[in-house]
This record gives sequence, structure tokens and C-alpha cells, in this order.
Amino acid sequence: MKFSSPRGTKDILPKEVFAWQKIEKASQEIFKIYNYQEIRTPIFEATELFTRSIGQETDIVNKEMYTFIDRGGRSLTLRPEETAPVVRAALENNLISLDKITKLYYIGPMFRYERPQAGRFRQFHQIGVEAFGSKDALMDVEVMILAVQFFNSLKVENLELNINSVGCKKDQAIYKEKIKHHLKEHLSHLCSNCQVRLEKNPLRVLDCKEEKCQKLVQSAPRSIDFLCQECNHHLKKVEHGLKQMKIKYSLNHRLVRGLDYYTGTAFEIVSSKLGAQNAVCGGGRYDNLVEELGGKPIPAIGFAIGAERLIEILKNQTEQAVSLDLFIATVGEAAQEKALEILQAKRAQGLVCDMDYLGKSLKAQMKTADRLKAKKVLIIGEEELKKGKAFLKDMETSQQEEISL
Ligand code: HAM
Repeated sequence: MKFSSPRGTKDILPKEVFAWQKIEKASQEIFKIYNYQEIRTPIFEATELFTRSIGQETDIVNKEMYTFIDRGGRSLTLRPEETAPVVRAALENNLISLDKITKLYYIGPMFRYERPQAGRFRQFHQIGVEAFGSKDALMDVEVMILAVQFFNSLKVENLELNINSVGCKKDQAIYKEKIKHHLKEHLSHLCSNCQVRLEKNPLRVLDCKEEKCQKLVQSAPRSIDFLCQECNHHLKKVEHGLKQMKIKYSLNHRLVRGLDYYTGTAFEIVSSKLGAQNAVCGGGRYDNLVEELGGKPIPAIGFAIGAERLIEILKNQTEQAVSLDLFIATVGEAAQEKALEILQAKRAQGLVCDMDYLGKSLKAQMKTADRLKAKKVLIIGEEELKKGKAFLKDMETSQQEEISL
């Protein structure tokens, strides 16, 4: 019997892993420069952590969570995102308080039971940051600059930063009513999903990909028209900061996020190189979440980048660059033993090297060296070994010289 990887998951194969290491390394480097520290949390959490934070009426909680009862009767959920777990861990370990800034980042797998398609998986990876402690719009600007600079460092082009303000919870309550009121008049023209959404989570209608819903949404009221003075001022300051730092952005009035904890600034970075699932990064402010999860009213903002989508964009840019510095081809048992000795000495110097353990002919070993893109091949024959000699072949120039072992 043969097994396949579960639907919506995929193996990251050796030929792809170089790209993964590249983005992980780039993120670690840049997050460090911005004074973020890494945090790693469990893959599963108490289900309630997600229902309370992401929101009962969101798609994620309603239909996408991998939830199970463990043998002790607890309801657990494979994390669909990492913001709530980071808040939980930060509170539990006293990492955050009202009078200091705490900057955390993470890299790891998330799980959502979505319909798999290009750029959408059931196990996917996020690279994200969460900055706690400041309400200042300049913190929003810094977080967005960080995301943009991360993509720049990987030479990712054709990205667009979209921003919006979804307002504080009070603004949202007013805005939701306005949207409901507006769209109710066109209820029968909405898709069946949105007809339900309109009652339970009206803002999600703005984000519907169905053409008929999008058309209706064009004429819908905009969240920024219902912002209180403070939220309005905050948005203006964010825009001013982005302009000052020459970060290109578009104000996108239709931008709402799929998680309920957002307040104020919301943003997404989309790529024209991706298909329907074009958001490569999503984030925003969540000033109430820490308090909702049992902490002090500590404001926060963060984002998460979808690693699979980023890899897709980088696809043609990241060829595996691994090659061998040295391959040792041998004839006879004594030569093979000597080869292992030399390999270990060279590896200790940090050279990438290998030999054949399959008892192949010299000709076949040279083929292997070629396939492994070895820069040099050391050929140790029985006769040469007796004299303490071997041949060193430069695979690029094909020149061979006799050397002393
Ligand atoms: P999100 O928008 O749900 O936000 O996800 C962030 C990114 O994860 C998306 O832009 C996308 O690139 C990637 N992503 C999401 N779902 C999938 C999927 N099924 N397959 C592949 N990639 C996917 C959050 O998760 C928030 N926690 C972000 C955040 C951090 N907000 C504040 N701090």
C-alpha cells in the first residue's frame, strides 16, 4: 500500500529547501536589526484561545479549524494563526507590560481546513512579528517598513502595500450597522455565503471574491467615513509616516481582515505574481486582544507573511546553489580507507565533500562527481597510494595534477 501526503499538505523536498532556508535566514537577520526576538509556541492550543480571539463568526473558527478532543477530554486546536498563541505565551511568561515595548517574531506551520488551491494549503507556514506596548502610529509605520524591507532584501518586486483603518470597536459597531443597512436592500443579489455573513459578520462581505458581491460592495459605505477622531488622527499619522519614509501604499477602503481582533490600522501586501490568493502578507493593530485574553490593556500590532506564497514568487530566483568542493574517487579498499581519513580532515576545515560508498567503477565515480557538481576530484588509485600520491582533477578545466598525499 502506498500513502500520499494528506490533502492540502506538501513535502518540502531537498531541491526546494534551499529557498526555505534563504527566507528563514533573511527574516532572522532583518528581525534582529529591528530588535525583535524569536518565540516558539506549541503547535496546538486550547480551542477557546482561538474562538475568543479570532472570533466565533469568522470563517477560520466556523469551518477551518483542526479541533480535537485529547485523551484527557480537553478540546485542542492546531494553531490556525500565531497572534493569539503569542499573546497567550507573552502573558503567561510576563513578557509584556504597559510601560515597555516587546517585539517578538516567529516562523512555523499553521493549519486551516480550507479548500486547497494554488497558494492555499491546509498546512502552511507563516513568518510573523508582533510588537506590544505602543499605540503610536509610528509603530505601525515601523512594522510596515519592516515588512516592505524584508521583501526588498529578497529582491521581491511588484508588490503593493494596501492599508485601511477598520476603526476601534465602537467605530466598527457603527460601521457594521451601516454596511448591513446598505446591503440589506440588495440581499437577494448577494451570494448565499454573504447572505449569512451579512447577519453574523457583515464586514466579511467586503472581502467576498464573488463578482456579484464585489459589484455591490463598490457602492457600500467606507469604514474611514465612520472613524472617531482618534482613529482618524491615527490613520492620518500612519499615512504621513509612510509618505515621509517614501513607502508606496494605497488606501484600500475594501480592505478588511478575516480575523475579528483588529482595531484601527489593517494592511495587506499583495503580489501581482500570484493568482487569486495574492496576499503574501497580512497584519494590523489589535489594541484590545491582550486585555480580552486576560492581560492589561496593552496595544499591539503585527503581521504574518505566507511562506509558501513568498516561495512561489521567488521560484525562479532561488536555484539550489549547493555543490561539492571535493569528491574523492578511489580504486581499492586501502584507497577508500585513506579517502575517509582525508574527507574527515577536509570536512573539519568546512569543505563540502563526499565519496562513493557503492563500490562503483572509477568511471562511474567520475560520473557521480559530475552529477554532484564537484569542483575538484581527488583520485586515489592502488598504485599511487603505495607511493603516497594521488591525482587532483579540476572539474572545470579538466586539468589533472599529481599531488602528494
Ligand atoms: P492572515 O491574513 O490570516 O493573518 O494570514 C497571513 C498570511 O498567511 C496571508 O496573507 C497568507 O499569505 C498566508 N496564509 C493564510 N492562510 C493560508 C493558507 N491556507 N495557505 C497558504 N497561506 C496562507 C494572520 O494569520 C494574522 N495572525 C496576521 C497578524 C499578525 N496580524 C497581526 N499580527
